[in-house]
Formats: sequence, C-alpha cells, structure tokens
Amino acid sequence: MRPQPDPAAIDELDLLDPRLHATHDLTPVWRRLRAHDPVRRHDRFWSVTRHADVLRVVRDPGTYTSLQGNMLRTLLRGHDPGAGRMIVVTDGRKHADLRRLLTPGFGPRTLGPVTRSIAEATRDRLGSLVERGGGDFVAEVAAQVPLRAICELLGVPVRDRRRVLELTGEAMLGEAAPTSTTARIAQSEILLYYTRLAAERRAAPGDDVISLLVSAGLTEEEVLLNCYNLIIGGDETARLAMAGGVLALATHEEQWARLRADPALVPAAAEEILRWTTPAAHVGRTATRDTELSGRRIAAGDVVALWTVSANRDESVFAEPDRFDVARTPNRHLTFGYGPHFCLGAQLARAELQALLAELRTTVSEIEVAGPVTWLPSNFVNGIAALPVRLA
Ligand code: HEM
Repeated sequence: MRPQPDPAAIDELDLLDPRLHATHDLTPVWRRLRAHDPVRRHDRFWSVTRHADVLRVVRDPGTYTSLQGNMLRTLLRGHDPGAGRMIVVTDGRKHADLRRLLTPGFGPRTLGPVTRSIAEATRDRLGSLVERGGGDFVAEVAAQVPLRAICELLGVPVRDRRRVLELTGEAMLGEAAPTSTTARIAQSEILLYYTRLAAERRAAPGDDVISLLVSAGLTEEEVLLNCYNLIIGGDETARLAMAGGVLALATHEEQWARLRADPALVPAAAEEILRWTTPAAHVGRTATRDTELSGRRIAAGDVVALWTVSANRDESVFAEPDRFDVARTPNRHLTFGYGPHFCLGAQLARAELQALLAELRTTVSEIEVAGPVTWLPSNFVNGIAALPVRLA
C-alpha cells in the first residue's frame, strides 16, 4: 500500500509530478480539497475535485473547450498535435461529425463478435495463468485482451495481429518515457502499418472502423490520428481497470466471496471496479471566456483539470465512497467522462471487465498478491504497471 500524504501539507504537493501519483495514495488530499477548496488555483491550472463541478464543466463545451487538449500534459504545453482533427480534442460541428461517423463502429453489429472474441481471449490467457499457479496478471492477461479487442475493431487482419500487438506495446512505452528510441521506432512503424491498411480499405471497404473513416473522406492524417485515439484511449485504460480490479478483489476478500457466490453481481462489480480504479485520473479543458465555477473566477484561457479520481469518491454522491462494494447501486461514476465526449468505448470496456469477472468467478477460488505492486508514474493514467499474483 502506498503511504498517504498529510492533507494539511497540500501547498507542498505538486499534483503535476508523475512520481507523486506513483508513490502516494492521494485519497485524503482529494477529500480535503472537496471539503475546503473544491476549485483550487495552482500556478498554471485549476483543480476541480467535486462531482457536481466536474459535471458542470464537461456539460458545457462552449465555455470549456477540448480544442487545446484534454489532459494536463498537452494543455500546459500549449497545444495538442491532434487538435481539431482527433475526436477527443475536437469540438462543435467537427466533433459531432466524427462522433456520428465512429458510433456505428461501436454498435451491436461490430461489438457482438468482438465481445465473443474477448471472452475467448480472457479464457485462454487466464486459463494458462491459473495452470501455472500465477504470474504477472498485467503482462499475462490485462495487457493482452484490450489490444486484441482494438485490433478486431480496427479490422487488423489476423495474420498481422501478433506484430501489431508487439509494436503497439513498444509504442505505448513512449507514453511513460517519450524519449525512448524503441518507442519512437515502434510508433513510426505502427503509423506506417495503419497507412497501408487505410489504403487497402479505401480500395476494398469492410465493416471495421478504419473503413468507416476512409469512406467518409477523411484525410490520411485524420484517419491515422483517430485510429491512434482508439488505441491510446482503449488499451491502457482498460488494462488498468482490469489489473486494478483484480488487486481490489485480492485485497477485499469478503467482496470477492460475495462475487463468487452470486453471478448476478458481475455487472455491478464491473461498475464498482471502474469507479474504484478510475484509470484516467483527470480530464482537462480550457476556458473560452471569463466565467465562474463554484464561486471562483475562471479567466478566458485558464486550464482546468477535472480530477475524476476525486469526483468518484465524492461523499455527496457515493455512500461510504472509500468502501469497495461489488453490489454498489446506483453508481454514478465519471470514469468514462460525461457529456459530448463520453467515452465511445465504454460498452467495450464494460464487456472486457465483465468477461474477466465471469471467468475469474468460475476458474479461480483464491487470489493472492504475490509480490510488490508497482504504480505508474503519471498524473493522467492512474493504475498499476505490474501485479504478481498467485491464483488457486
Ligand atoms: C476502462 C477503460 C476506459 C476508460 C477509463 C476511458 C476513459 C475515457 C474518458 C474519461 C473519456 C472522455 C475524455 C474527455 O472528456 O476529454 C473517453 C473518451 C473516449 N474514449 Fe475511452 N475509456 C476507456 C475505454 C475505451 C475504449 C475501449 C475505447 C475504444 C477502443 C475508447 C475510446 C474512446 C474515444 C474514441 C473517446 C473520445 C470520445 C469523444 O471525444 O467523443 N475508450 N474515454
């Protein structure tokens, strides 16, 4: 367990520092901010920590735009390379067009087969981990299933999948260490791969998401940026939810016993894992005009960080918010955001988690943490990098 900092020393904490999030459990800091300073001014940005204020901001894209970026890293750099072209960092008409275009790619016709394939992949990966009595749950299961699902969604042919999965894994390392050469080479190779695939789909379209994008007349760059959005948006987040969920079940034995005893709890347990793990710790916006939020004056151009990791523990919305409860209902978590940019992959992520829980229930009786758990150094992606487990 990570130590909790003294919330009274909030002035000395740098919420931008990735290491702070890896080495500390900030639960008491968020609690104090919600109670005493819910819209807090830092040097270069505002921290918004209450559920109701987060909702106010994301529901109002006219006042709080995504066009300058949607996470602190890009917002404080001053621009996002995908701005105006990649769905999550567009607004208004362009956003509505992209959303309309992509939505069928996440509908029942596509998700049906993908969900079946997820169940199969989960059974395979978890089965082989159980056979060996355990191992690193992140590398063996959580890192494998979401990427496979995205490959299916994008229509990556089966023959290329192993290579694409390897390259994507290497490219993702770049998110944690953007200067890594291996990561940069892998990123270029993967972009090249998708460029070729997009050209093939232009000539012979199918049912997949890339075909949807190319047939709508998007530029090559727009197609690539939006593929990249799906990979970035859907891989690491789902991996962190799965891994954090298994950690939560391993450390809350009574909740694991409840879930094992009652299959009807699987959907509620998946929602609680999403709330509990909150894989995207914040989403960011930029004010387009002078405005006011819970009594604080926000100026045009100000950057606001909406800490969903705090909103998901807001005591005015969740009873006993610091209790992990697999039967929690209602569960109005903001893990997938809210409003116009609500996560397009939410149903897919839910299917991944539910498949994992269903499989765990039937094949595993005991989950034990078997070594040190490492947390990712990031103020944005929230979760664990390695989870050694023993499974009986
Ligand atoms: C547990 C897993 C996931 C979490 C925690 C998550 C979280 C989020 C959040 C918070 C947003 C809103 C961003 C904002 O308001 O600025 C978002 C949007 C988005 N997510 Fe997810 N996501 C997950 C899984 C997925 C998956 C599996 C996919 C697709 C393969 C996906 C694709 C997207 C896309 C395309 C958007 C942009 C939607 C828009 O701008 O209209 N996500 N996600």
